[in-house]
Amino acid sequence: MANAVPKHIGIIMDGNGRWAQKKHLPRVMGHRQGARTLDKLLNDAKGLGVEHITVYAFSTENWKRAEEEVSGIMGILREYINKYFREYANSDFRVDSVGDLSALSEDLQADIARLKDVSKDRTGIHLTIAMNYGSRDEIKRAVQKIACEVKEGKLDIPDITEELISEHLDSAGTPDPELIIRTSGELRTSNFLLWQSAYSEYYITDKLWPDFTIEDLKDAISVYQSRDRRFGGRNEVVK
Ligand code: FPP
Repeated sequence: MANAVPKHIGIIMDGNGRWAQKKHLPRVMGHRQGARTLDKLLNDAKGLGVEHITVYAFSTENWKRAEEEVSGIMGILREYINKYFREYANSDFRVDSVGDLSALSEDLQADIARLKDVSKDRTGIHLTIAMNYGSRDEIKRAVQKIACEVKEGKLDIPDITEELISEHLDSAGTPDPELIIRTSGELRTSNFLLWQSAYSEYYITDKLWPDFTIEDLKDAISVYQSRDRRFGGRNEVVK
């Protein structure tokens, strides 16, 4: 039987730089086009049955890029977060974040907090933006929180279950993604949702992120639906 439409899709939006390079444009123009692509996709994806989308916008490793590119991406994030605040005021999108926001500028942190708050009760697509995000960093912070609770006597060592760890991650409350899409053909997880994607299906396309469309998303979903998901078990009929 075909799998249902995935409720949660993670997207590694890769290839913005190459898209810009091919057009002899500065790399930041690729990120700008990438943000437009995401915006369009979110609107086109309404009604497909996907409930949560997590996008990798800025990783803990991306700070190593040239200052011009880092500030360009931060500017685009701020612009879109404000656009979502203004234009989506009457829409049904819920916006969230994962990642350590404390390293972002105070203005951007305030804009994100404002958008999260205003959209928290909405029932449409739940968009999570991964900013200054790295799975290892997220897991490290979760372990630190758990260790504090043990130290304060709020938790005992046997209370540390897989569920408890999930509840201490930034993504707490969002189901694990069934499908992760990566554009631009790279075969890497790049520190994205490592804990949450233990049983996710991966879909890799050669398309560069700015060229990704709703038809590509539908293709990814139909490939996912045709996969045999065994979760480490076997799906053969038991005799
Ligand atoms: C990877 O492409 C992409 C990024 C590091 C940034 C992605 C950010 C956006 C699309 C903006 C997101 C906006 C919102 C509102 C969430 P790359 O630069 O690594 O591409 P390359 O591998 O071709 O160099």
